[in-house]
Amino acid sequence: MVKIGQLAVVGATGAVGKEVCTLLERRSLSVGTLSLLASARSAGQSIKVNDRNITVQELTEKSFHGVDYAIFSAGGGVSKKFAPIAKAAGCVVIDNSSAFRMDSDVPLVVPEINPGDLDYHQGIIANPNCSTIIMNMVVWPLHRENPVRRIAVSTYQAASGAGQAAMQELTSQTADVLAGWPVEPKVLSHLIAFNLFSHDTPIGQDGYNQEERKMIDETRKIFHVPDLPITATCVRVPIPRAHSESINLSFENPISASDAREILSTAPGVRVVDDAIANHFPMPIEATGQDDCLVGRIRQDVSQPGGCGLELFVCGDQIRKGAALNAVQILECLAG
Ligand code: A2P
Repeated sequence: MVKIGQLAVVGATGAVGKEVCTLLERRSLSVGTLSLLASARSAGQSIKVNDRNITVQELTEKSFHGVDYAIFSAGGGVSKKFAPIAKAAGCVVIDNSSAFRMDSDVPLVVPEINPGDLDYHQGIIANPNCSTIIMNMVVWPLHRENPVRRIAVSTYQAASGAGQAAMQELTSQTADVLAGWPVEPKVLSHLIAFNLFSHDTPIGQDGYNQEERKMIDETRKIFHVPDLPITATCVRVPIPRAHSESINLSFENPISASDAREILSTAPGVRVVDDAIANHFPMPIEATGQDDCLVGRIRQDVSQPGGCGLELFVCGDQIRKGAALNAVQILECLAG
């Protein structure tokens, strides 16, 4: 049982914050005092955690006195302003936003991959981007056996990545379209019901959007391979909360599909779902609510010479391993 004196969850009323509260109940964590923080809009609401009704408080500059650890999931703006305040108050911050991920003194950690990086933290630890975590849960175990020389990934990302309001928009838009009513996107920038679109983050000078850039830069940092060739195409799809990814890999040495299946079958946090006879492979609906990332369609890439290429398909719960679970695992590593 990991014991924590005082823990704050910032963004406790949001999709990731709520999942953090659920995980605090499920995992072997004993928290003395739990502060649930959100905007003034939610102050006074009550959230039940471990049979205790906890009143949500407004996040202020005084919220971190005496707090040992804080998990932030309230967006980059809130993190940029309040994480340094929390750190100055002696609190260790685990931040789900992208605000500090590429800072050289901020470890970017997936506990199954680079837990040793936690040693150099200066009070802030960053949780990687959700698509990056889900991809790397399956790429890392293979890379450790046979160095990966190139990654080409295409994502099919759930609405949950844009928060609770986007998940609600998917449901309400779908009902409205079916009813024949006019629909106007409010949270996401395009129609999400019965549609998909290129991830709606700004496009950089190199033509990559911010989500794609995160997958590239963050993977290099987590793997400690600063020049690893990676290309990504990120797409939002009408799925509530689990991301899917098609991943093409090139390796230094030949690797067969059965080698890869064997390596992945013992990788922590990964479950192989690869039944060609039943045509049963990873699906977002089966990854939803699961801790494990599901991997299947494991096959040799016939276009790459010398048996050095693989194709994979992965699904992982964006809110769970893509955000809340990874943050709680970091907390367990720090406090354990
Ligand atoms: P609130 O519910 O009071 O708006 P999601 O990612 O699902 O959209 O959730 C975002 C979370 O971040 C919510 O808990 C939200 O609280 C919180 N949040 C957003 N803006 C602020 C802010 N300025 N101060 C504190 N919490 C915020």
